[in-house]
Amino acid sequence: MTYLSVNINKVATLRNARGGNVPDVVRFAMDCEAFGAQGITVHPRPDERHIRHADVYAIKDAINVEFNIEGYPSEDFIQLVKQVRPAQVTLVPDSREQLTSNHGWDTVMCREFLTEVTSSLHEAGCRVSLFVDPAPAYVECAKVCGADRVELYTGPYAELFRQHPLMAIDQYRPAAEAARAVGLGLNAGHDLSLQNLHPLVEAFPWIDEVSIGHQLICDALYLGIKETIKQYKAQL
Ligand code: PXP
Repeated sequence: MTYLSVNINKVATLRNARGGNVPDVVRFAMDCEAFGAQGITVHPRPDERHIRHADVYAIKDAINVEFNIEGYPSEDFIQLVKQVRPAQVTLVPDSREQLTSNHGWDTVMCREFLTEVTSSLHEAGCRVSLFVDPAPAYVECAKVCGADRVELYTGPYAELFRQHPLMAIDQYRPAAEAARAVGLGLNAGHDLSLQNLHPLVEAFPWIDEVSIGHQLICDALYLGIKETIKQYKAQL
C-alpha cells in the first residue's frame, strides 16, 4: 500500500502573503489527516519563506499520522529535527536560494557526509530517506550510507509523462528495482498529479509513500481539500 503524504508548504506561503494566521497551517494539517492523508510533509527552508520553525513544532503536536520533514541537513535543520523527532526525515541537497528541489543527492560523492548525518538522525529515532535522481548507483549508495529509504525525484518523470508516458515509466524502472533489490524503502515526490500518479504506482507497487504538494493544493482550489485527498487516494 502506498501512503499519501500531503506537503503543506503552499498553505504556509498563502498565510505568509498577508501576515496573520489565515489560513491556519496547523488546522489544515489536522484536516488533511481527518480527510484521509496518511502523512504530512513540510520543508522548512532557512529563510522560513513558507513553513516556519514554530509551525514544525505545532504540527508535530497536532497530528497523529506520519510526520515527514524535508530539507538540507544544515546544523539548524538537524537541531530542529532532533528536537521535533518526526517519524521520517527526507534529506534534500537544496541550496539556500533554491525555489524548489530540482535534483537529488550524488550519494557516491557525498557518502561520508550522508553516512554521518543519517547515523545521527537514527540516534534521534527518525527514519531517514535520501532524495535521489533515478539512477541505480545513487540508490545503491544510499543503502551504503545507512538510509532506510530513498525518495525518487519525479520532476523529470512528470515532464516526460506528458508526451511519452511509457518512456517515463521505463526511465524510472532501474532505480525503483534497485531500491527493492537492496532492501531500501521507496518514496517518490515532485510534480506528481492526478494525471501521472496512478501509472507510477501501478508500475512500482512497492512505492511506500508519495509526497505531493503543489499540484494537490492547486487541485484543492477547484475541488476542495477533502475531495482532492479522496481523489489522490483513489489513484493509489
Ligand atoms: N519531495 C521533495 C524532496 C520536495 O522538495 C518537494 C517540494 O517541496 C516535494 C516532494 C513535493 O513536490 P510538489 O510540490 O511538486 O508536489
